[in-house]
Amino acid sequence: MKLFDVYPLQDVVIEKGEGCYVWDDKGQKYLDFYGGHAVISIGHSHPYWKKFITDQLDKIAFYSNSVKLPVQQKLAETFGRVSGKNDYQLFLINSGAEANENALKLASFHTGRKKIVSFSKSFHGRTSLAVAVTDNPKLRARVNENENIISLPFNDREKFEKVMKEQGNEIAAVIIEAIQGVGGIRVADSGFLKLIRNLCDVHGTVMIADEVQCGYGRTGKFFASDHAGVDADIYSMAKGIGNGFPLAAIAIHPKIKAKYSMLGTTFGGNPLACAAAIAVLEVMENEKLMKNAEETGNYLLEKLSQNHVIKNVRGKGLMIGFDVPGEIKDLRKNLLFKHHIFTGSASPDVVRLLPPLCISKEQADVLLNAIQLETSPLKQKEIEKLSVGK
Ligand SMILES: Cc1ncc(COP(=O)(O)O)c(C=O)c1O
Repeated sequence: MKLFDVYPLQDVVIEKGEGCYVWDDKGQKYLDFYGGHAVISIGHSHPYWKKFITDQLDKIAFYSNSVKLPVQQKLAETFGRVSGKNDYQLFLINSGAEANENALKLASFHTGRKKIVSFSKSFHGRTSLAVAVTDNPKLRARVNENENIISLPFNDREKFEKVMKEQGNEIAAVIIEAIQGVGGIRVADSGFLKLIRNLCDVHGTVMIADEVQCGYGRTGKFFASDHAGVDADIYSMAKGIGNGFPLAAIAIHPKIKAKYSMLGTTFGGNPLACAAAIAVLEVMENEKLMKNAEETGNYLLEKLSQNHVIKNVRGKGLMIGFDVPGEIKDLRKNLLFKHHIFTGSASPDVVRLLPPLCISKEQADVLLNAIQLETSPLKQKEIEKLSVGK
């Protein structure tokens, strides 16, 4: 049987991981500035995380949401403490798309409305409503078409104000990434996030912060929207929450009331996934990983901005993007195959850095030196000579 061929793959077989490194099947070590797409938060195969999962496995791996599962309650308490959202309610699912699907559905239950505002270049996942609010028509099948979605330009206050003035009372939710990931590391202005909060309050609309990629400590604060001093009504989370163990969650403001059966899932919140997520939060606290994300992120942002070949260095903490001009279009490939450093991309000319939150300044220097080598004037001359010779 063949795998359904939907992923363009790098020609690398990864067999092992530890901390910020992974190894391929030939024993080659790589520095991981991609974190398996922002998923590895506390580092590959963290011993505390492994022990927590193994201890849980020795007790019970799975039981359904039809009985009391104390490990879920422990996760909710730990989450409330680390995130600072103690008064919110936690609902557990399995993926980022599912988190947004439930957040949007809940907003509609809560308001009794069906319109949703989303923004250009957004990515919210591939389930039906999540893909309908994602700004990429290529990802939508006919069955996902939805006339209730109002798509507005990102960071455009005037257009947003106009729509809220005219239709605010029909809009169930506004969904936004405080830093767009797939969209190319585009940071929402603090003023824009505050305006959304304000107009959602005026019109009784639910503000959903999609923190699947930008949240969970990656930017140095628990949520990327915390930088703007804004509290969303629902936060969606996935990726870093389990350090690779599949789990996702929404944190729900206390004004939104639960009713039996309004949401539900078989696998969401299973004991093994909860154990993984508790270990992640405890390691984040004990190893002060949010502080590290802020400090190492600032260091990277500052040093990358001094490079005159790469352009538009942007982001916050350990969620960084920059543009790659045509002359060094093979930068990512060279970083991977010559320097053995994994990075991410958002489009062919945008590099995304999404390393584990434990990445050190020394490891940052390894990446910076490799980029420096690939973009040095000497290298540029070599490239120019090559292209003239062609
Ligand atoms: C901001 C954002 N939301 C939602 C998703 C979807 O998450 P998942 O792939 O776990 O469904 C992603 C995935 O990249 C994302 O970046």
